[in-house]
Amino acid sequence: MQREMKTSSTHHQINKHRSFIIILKYFFISLFLSLPLFLFLLSLQPNHRTTTTTTTTVSGDLLRIRPGYSSYENYIQRQLNKTLNPKLRQIWTTRDWERKIKVFSQFFDQLKRQNLLSNDSKALCIGARVGQEVEALRRIGVSDSVGIDLVPYPPLVVKGDFHNQPFRNGTFDFEFSNVFDHALFPEKFVAEIERTLRPGGVCALHVSISKRADKYSANDLYSSEPLVKLFKGSDLVHLKKIDGFGLDTEVVFRKREN
Ligand SMILES: C[S@@+](CC[C@H](N)C(=O)[O-])C[C@H]1O[C@@H](n2cnc3c(N)ncnc32)[C@H](O)[C@@H]1O
Ligand SMILES: *[C@@H]1O[C@H](CO)[C@@H](O)[C@H](O)[C@H]1NC(C)=O
Ligand SMILES: *[C@@H]1O[C@H](CO)[C@@H](O)[C@H](O)[C@H]1NC(C)=O
Ligand SMILES: *[C@@H]1O[C@H](CO)[C@@H](O)[C@H](O)[C@H]1NC(C)=O
Repeated sequence: MQREMKTSSTHHQINKHRSFIIILKYFFISLFLSLPLFLFLLSLQPNHRTTTTTTTTVSGDLLRIRPGYSSYENYIQRQLNKTLNPKLRQIWTTRDWERKIKVFSQFFDQLKRQNLLSNDSKALCIGARVGQEVEALRRIGVSDSVGIDLVPYPPLVVKGDFHNQPFRNGTFDFEFSNVFDHALFPEKFVAEIERTLRPGGVCALHVSISKRADKYSANDLYSSEPLVKLFKGSDLVHLKKIDGFGLDTEVVFRKREN
């Protein structure tokens, strides 16, 4: 009797164990069978990036124009809002002045050593604000240098919109800019550089790729690839990591001769 009871209880346990395994088996089978449906539903989920903003993209998704500019006037006003700030202008022309000139001089000296810039280059700095980069060029011997910005700062910087440069075709041997991210129309920004450079002329850009630029930026760049595509009439000279006031990449192009 005791023995019988023992066997029956063992039987009972084995049965419980079996049914558990069966349940588990069907659970995994159904999980496996529902996988394609799950993946299908996942693919129907709208892409987060493209639905939360009405971003315009140039060259895939690697260069995105920021939404929220209701008009060109509105974009310009936003740029001016910072550039015209009297307190900031005071800081840029005092505390920041020598510090920035020193860093710009080092970058330009390197370009000189690589024969991409020389004392007799006619040079333009785009979006130069108060013109520390122009002053740096002049100090290292590139005396025919000028900057453009929405707000002039004579004699270093004259008034000009980089989407419509106030210069004739083929004017410059060298152009520098660290404000690509402020372009609402990147293709126009680049086309204007290629227009005003002479054939064989050099353009050096400092851009931010791994880090988002400031809140006054009009676009976000996630790779150098879109930039290389935009410079249709130029060849890539070099691309290197730098540390330039929050900008991490130097990209240099040479306009093709023909
Ligand atoms: C981040 S600041 C850079 C200033 C300067 N390059 C420097 O490193 O100190 C961007 C500058 O681009 C100028 N800017 C923005 N949009 C512009 C446009 N469409 N044409 C010309 N300059 C523009 C702004 O006025 C501002 O001075
Ligand atoms: C410019 O700044 C002022 C004050 O900081 C603000 O009231 C105004 O809305 C700003 N305008 C734009 C176009 O951002
Ligand atoms: C370029 O100008 C700088 C500064 O005036 C001068 O020291 C340097 O010798 C010049 N370089 C050449 C190659 O003339
Ligand atoms: C200047 O260059 C642009 C773009 O390359 C071209 O369309 C235009 O015809 C040129 N203008 C002159 C006066 O050569």
